[in-house]
Amino acid sequence: MSDNNKIKVDGVRKGFGALPVIGGVSFAVADSEFVAIVGPSGCGKSTLMNVIAGFERPDAGRVEIDGAPLAGPSPRGIVISQHGSVFPWLTVQQNLMFGLNGKHGADHGERAALADHYAAMVGLKGFESAYPHELSGGMLKRVELARAFIVKPEILYLDEPFSALDALMNLRMRNELLRILEEERHTVLLITHDVDEAIYMADRILVLSPRPTTIQARFEVKLPHPRRLASPEAEALREAILRELGL
Ligand SMILES: Nc1ncnc2c1ncn2[C@@H]1O[C@H](COP(=O)(O)OP(=O)(O)O)[C@@H](O)[C@H]1O
Ligand SMILES: [Mg+2]
Repeated sequence: MSDNNKIKVDGVRKGFGALPVIGGVSFAVADSEFVAIVGPSGCGKSTLMNVIAGFERPDAGRVEIDGAPLAGPSPRGIVISQHGSVFPWLTVQQNLMFGLNGKHGADHGERAALADHYAAMVGLKGFESAYPHELSGGMLKRVELARAFIVKPEILYLDEPFSALDALMNLRMRNELLRILEEERHTVLLITHDVDEAIYMADRILVLSPRPTTIQARFEVKLPHPRRLASPEAEALREAILRELGL
């Protein structure tokens, strides 16, 4: 699959001062593949994501996107983190138009129409003129997703995107994300501490060790969608992953 690699991570190491965080990580993500990385809290997941997305430089090793060495954050990838990045002083439509940043045609009307299309795609039809403080946590997450998808990124970097949501909304957003990915396929790298979230969505799961982190195990998820987390196959996979995590 070497020709088809969207992301290649090769021998990446990273520390902060005397603290070694990433202890040598190598893996590849194929074009249009959905890879999840699970690992214990504090093991270095966000640090790894920041290196792969180009926000931090590795101390050793390299990251390649489409075979070219990564030089910094690329507009071809979009990061969605737990914290969120919606502007409180802009409406839903304005937030989405801001993401377009003058690209995709400068015409204001066209950009507004595109913003409304993506708002509808994430189930926010009728809320185009609402401000963030008028929206629930789940609706805010939908704005985030729409803002990511509207720029048609080649890669979605998701760092615990739904972990601040309540359990029910978390389940809804998983389905929402999978539905959008069926419409518009992207390469996805999801970081999570939620094993079920990974099993529900990913094609492959990498399990990280505690810090300094390395890939401890790799699993393929061959279950068809929509997945049932209560199925014997999913149960067996969960068992195996939890065992790797020492749980
Ligand atoms: N910018 C930084 N400076 C110093 N230490 C950091 C920095 N970022 C992360 N760390 C440390 O690196 C370790 C891993 O952090 P992080 O990657 O956020 O873990 P995770 O996302 O798996 O919870 C933690 O001990 C954290 O304190
Ligand atoms: Mg983190």
